[in-house]
Amino acid sequence: MEKRTELYRGKAKSVFMTDDPDRLILLFRNDTSAFDGQKVEQLDRKGMVNNKFNAFIMQKLEAAGIPTQFDALLSDNECLVKKLDMIPVECVVRNYAAGSLVRRLGIEEGLQLTPPTFELFLKNDALHDPFINESHVYAFGWATPEQLARMKELTFKVNDVLNALFDDAGLMLVDFKLEFGVHQGEIVLGDEFSPDGCRLWDKATRKKMDKDRFRQGLGNVIEAYEEVAQRLGVPL
Ligand code: TMP
Ligand code: ASP
Repeated sequence: MEKRTELYRGKAKSVFMTDDPDRLILLFRNDTSAFDGQKVEQLDRKGMVNNKFNAFIMQKLEAAGIPTQFDALLSDNECLVKKLDMIPVECVVRNYAAGSLVRRLGIEEGLQLTPPTFELFLKNDALHDPFINESHVYAFGWATPEQLARMKELTFKVNDVLNALFDDAGLMLVDFKLEFGVHQGEIVLGDEFSPDGCRLWDKATRKKMDKDRFRQGLGNVIEAYEEVAQRLGVPL
């Protein structure tokens, strides 16, 4: 697979074209960003850890019947993926209250949410990823009702698979964000799954093991990511 020109440079990953019009290369960089890119730092090993973490999780999800963009690991920092037409809507499931939900509704962090919540955000840094509802998705043509229904179904399926996986590793899956795209007419899970886009707490101590360590300046960010990877058995 030949790497060609850069198609897109995001906050933490770059996307390259390849000699196959249906395949892209994702490059995971060490750049770590929060607050819609207002706080950015380089963290050693982060690109490698997230690339391998993502490959591990995507393969688990694929094995559970969830269609993903992931094809293969190419190097420490790169993987090969299917080219999707991305839908600019972020799907967030919360099993416990944290982050923007706590700020928005004034509830206590760590409250268990039964059943889990499902929320939509528009992917738009300039607007700070605003909270939206499904009528906005249809009115602006970001996805059809059938596509959004499938995204919701797959997001809850991911929650079931990953709750079990993280629970076995002594971790609570507090919340996470997924992005989807369309490939050959089918809704497919895209982007990445890593500690950058979810919240993971140690079950016994509730220690934060995800990007909140960076957002909140708690230190030992990559050390925590590596501990999560090691507990799951991700080969680094
Ligand atoms: P929030 O509490 O900031 O709304 O985020 C909920 C979860 O989704 C949290 O694990 C972080 C993740 N997330 C992202 O990774 N990127 C985003 O742009 C958004 C809105 C959420
Ligand atoms: N990843 C987003 C950003 O860099 C949101 C966040 O994680 O805070 O701003």
